Amino acid sequence: MSLVRIHNFSVSLDGFGTGEGQSLESPFGHAGQRLHPWMFATRFGREMLGQEGGGRGADDAFAAQFMPGIGAEIMGANKFGPPGWQDDADWKGWWGPNPPFHTPTYVLTHRPRPSIEMEGGTTFHFLDATPEEALAVAREGAGGLDVRIGGGVSVVRDFLAAGLVDHAHFAVAPIVLGRGERLWDGLEGLESSYDVESVTTASGTTHVTFTRS
Ligand SMILES: NC(=O)c1ccc[n+]([C@@H]2O[C@H](COP(=O)([O-])OP(=O)(O)OC[C@H]3O[C@@H](n4cnc5c(N)ncnc54)[C@H](OP(=O)(O)O)[C@@H]3O)[C@@H](O)[C@H]2O)c1
Repeated sequence: MSLVRIHNFSVSLDGFGTGEGQSLESPFGHAGQRLHPWMFATRFGREMLGQEGGGRGADDAFAAQFMPGIGAEIMGANKFGPPGWQDDADWKGWWGPNPPFHTPTYVLTHRPRPSIEMEGGTTFHFLDATPEEALAVAREGAGGLDVRIGGGVSVVRDFLAAGLVDHAHFAVAPIVLGRGERLWDGLEGLESSYDVESVTTASGTTHVTFTRS
């Protein structure tokens, strides 16, 4: 059976996965870029931005796990676009013509629309479905490979709460956001189903992995 994986999901010390006030100008609301500097300083992160360089140390070793073995992604409507994107028939996500997913990508939304084929192997499909139903569809699309839960915060929380995640990597950024979308609410005792490891890297980021026991 293919695995369900989460990678590079950044949270603040106080447990927020995004800030308050998401908009077209600020995909992470008042958090700005403060959750992900660790990732965009790595070779993997620079490549995602179409740039050269970047560190090849421990942060890069974690970040680079994002792609290998993944055959599909599931994401939430608020990761796909800013509030109101469903009213824009031309909205195709934040990522330009060649998004960094390169697989079928399933967007959970209560307002589905026809699929959109992008360059580079990404096709966005829109689903109004439970996490279990969406996972069954994504597994089909993944062709035997693993399925990544790409965020945002509430979708990650929902898949964890439903017990559907086999491996999760969280990057705890050394910042206090104070407000935004909370990741851990309703997940009391999550660690009891997983082997948990953590390591803090030179960037001050604590990487925490949950691997199903
Ligand atoms: N920290 C990180 O590493 C990271 C990673 C990725 C994204 N993010 C950030 O996370 C934020 C988005 O997170 P979020 O919690 O606000 O939203 P989200 O998880 O992206 O999406 C939630 C929305 O998806 C739709 N949805 C979810 N489950 C559904 C289901 N079962 N069936 C149908 N529709 C469903 C609903 O939208 P509708 O009812 O409107 O259709 C729901 O309001 C953004 O700011 C993004 O930039 C952070």
